Amino acid sequence: MENLKIPTDEAVASLVNQSPTEPGKVRVPTRKATEPQVKPGLTRTMETVDDGLKSLFRTLTSGESRWPLYLWGEPGRGKTCAALALCDRCVHAPYWTVRELIERELNPERQLPWQVGGQRYYVHHSEPQGIAVLDELGETPATGKHWTERLHSELVKAFADWRISTALGVAIYISNLSPEQFRGHYDGRIASRVLSGTWYELRGVDRRMAGVG
Ligand SMILES: Nc1ncnc2c1ncn2[C@@H]1O[C@H](COP(=O)(O)OP(=O)(O)O)[C@@H](O)[C@H]1O
Ligand SMILES: [Mg+2]
Repeated sequence: MENLKIPTDEAVASLVNQSPTEPGKVRVPTRKATEPQVKPGLTRTMETVDDGLKSLFRTLTSGESRWPLYLWGEPGRGKTCAALALCDRCVHAPYWTVRELIERELNPERQLPWQVGGQRYYVHHSEPQGIAVLDELGETPATGKHWTERLHSELVKAFADWRISTALGVAIYISNLSPEQFRGHYDGRIASRVLSGTWYELRGVDRRMAGVG
C-alpha cells in the first residue's frame, strides 16, 4: 500500500475540473450491445432496465449528467445487471467487487486495476473509453482498527483516485447503502469522491424472487 499515491483533495478537484464542460460531465462513447465483456454468467439486457435509470445512462454517457454514478438500492433490484448492461455497450469496461480488489491486493501474482496500466484504457484524459464499476460497496466494515478494514478503505479510495486521474471520475459505484448510510460507513475522503456525481436509487421488486429476466 505504501506505493499508492493518494492525491490531495485539491489535486483531485483540479483533475475533475479538466472536464471540457462542467466537473464530472464527461462523454463516454457507446456502441451497440456486444457479447458480455465481464461476468458472462450473469445474463442481462438493457431492455429490462428501469426506465429512469436507462434515461440517466443516456444523459451520463452524453455528458449531460455528472459522473460518477452512485447506484443504490435493496438487494435483487437489478443494480449489478443494469451496470453490466451499460458496460456491454462500452469499450473496455472493467468490473470489480470490493472483495475482488481485496483478494487481488493479497495475491502478489494478480495486479490491481491501477497497476495494470489504467492509462491503457484511455487515449486522452478527455476521451474516456469505458466505465469502471465497483460493486458491493459497504458489504464489509471499512472503518475501525483491524487491518482488513483499513485495507478495504484504502482500496476503495485508491480505486476512486485511479478513476479520477485516468478517466475524470467516470465510474459506477454500487451499494445497498443509501448515500446517508454510505457517509456513515466510509471516511469523508471516500464519500466525497464516490458521492460527488449523480445518485440513483433502484427500487421495485426483488427480481431474484420475481423471476424477471
Ligand atoms: N437488466 C436485467 N436483465 C436481465 N435480468 C436481470 C436484469 N436485472 C436484474 N435481473 C435479474 O435479477 C437478478 C438480480 O439482479 P442483480 O443485478 O444481481 O441485483 P442487485 O445487484 O441489485 O442485487 C439477476 O440475477 C437477474 O436474474
Ligand atoms: Mg449486485
